[in-house]
Amino acid sequence: MKLFDVYPVNDIIIEKAQDSHVWDNKGTQYLDLYGGHAVISIGHTHPHYVKRLTDQLHKVGFYSNSVKMPLQEELAALLGKVSGKEDYQLFLCNSGAEANENALKLASFYNGKKKVIAFKKAFHGRTSLAVAATDNPKIVAPVNETDNVVFLPWEDEAALEQAFQQYEVSSVIIEGIQGVGGINVASESFLRKIRSLCDAHNAVFIADSVQCGYGRSGKFYSHDFAGVNADIYSMAKGMGNGFPIGAIIIAPKFHAVYGMLGTTFGGNHLACAAALAVLETVQAEKLMDNAATVGNYLMEQLRTFDKVKEVRGRGLMIGIDLPEELSHVRKELLHTHKIFTGEAKPNVIRLLPSLALTQAHADQFLEAFGKALNK
Ligand SMILES: Cc1ncc(COP(=O)(O)O)c(C=O)c1O
Repeated sequence: MKLFDVYPVNDIIIEKAQDSHVWDNKGTQYLDLYGGHAVISIGHTHPHYVKRLTDQLHKVGFYSNSVKMPLQEELAALLGKVSGKEDYQLFLCNSGAEANENALKLASFYNGKKKVIAFKKAFHGRTSLAVAATDNPKIVAPVNETDNVVFLPWEDEAALEQAFQQYEVSSVIIEGIQGVGGINVASESFLRKIRSLCDAHNAVFIADSVQCGYGRSGKFYSHDFAGVNADIYSMAKGMGNGFPIGAIIIAPKFHAVYGMLGTTFGGNHLACAAALAVLETVQAEKLMDNAATVGNYLMEQLRTFDKVKEVRGRGLMIGIDLPEELSHVRKELLHTHKIFTGEAKPNVIRLLPSLALTQAHADQFLEAFGKALNK
């Protein structure tokens, strides 16, 4: 059997990984500023993570949500503490798209309405309603098309007000920092506007934190910079440091009903052990502070390169906007300097490293970046 060929891959086989480095099958070392797409939050094969997962596997790896799982309660308590949202409720699932599906569905159960407001360049996943709320017609199949989603221009407060007049809005879904869309930071005033319009119209504010959340921005949820709470936060990528796990946290005003949400795999023992290991390490190693410090340093330094058009982001979620003639820089970084970075089209290099990235790693990247720019 052949693989269903949907991914344009680099011709590299990774066999080993540690901290912010990976090694290929020929022994070549790479600096990883991509983290498998913002997934590696505490560093590859972190010893605490490996131990917690291994210990758990020796006890019980999986059982379904038909039995009590103290590990889920432990995770909910720690997540509440680290995120500062202790009065929220946790629902566990397996991926970012699934987290957003559940968020959008729960919002509609809550207020009985159907219209979802999403924004230009948004990415919320590839399934059902999540893909319908994603601004990329190429990945929306005819069966996913729906009148229930309205796309508005990014940061246009007047358009948002008008949409609330025009439609019975169930929810507004927004990334605190658009990732796939090219690292666009939602302004504090726009997020506050969403909060006040949702309050006025009994609509649900969904903060998609799948990529920008879990400490990456320097705060636990990047939406927190606005100083207002969303009703539901969705998360995934960094949550399990590579173990598939997603979640939504849900404000106290939502009441659970048996069966309204559910999953077979979500919240299993191994997934909870992975998520706990991540949070324990984020706390013990003060990784949110590190993300803010090293991220600010990187952004400051990147802004000193004349050839860079713009640097956007927060913490260790950084977009470097390059002119078209420099579109080769990312490949140059990978093949000559052995540094993995991410991309967003057309010419944005995305940095999504582990939150434990050191300043020495940042300097190594900056030196290579300078050379690649001038190649
Ligand atoms: C903001 C955002 N939401 C949702 C998703 C979907 O996550 P997953 O690929 O885990 O389904 C992504 C993935 O890139 C994302 O960046």
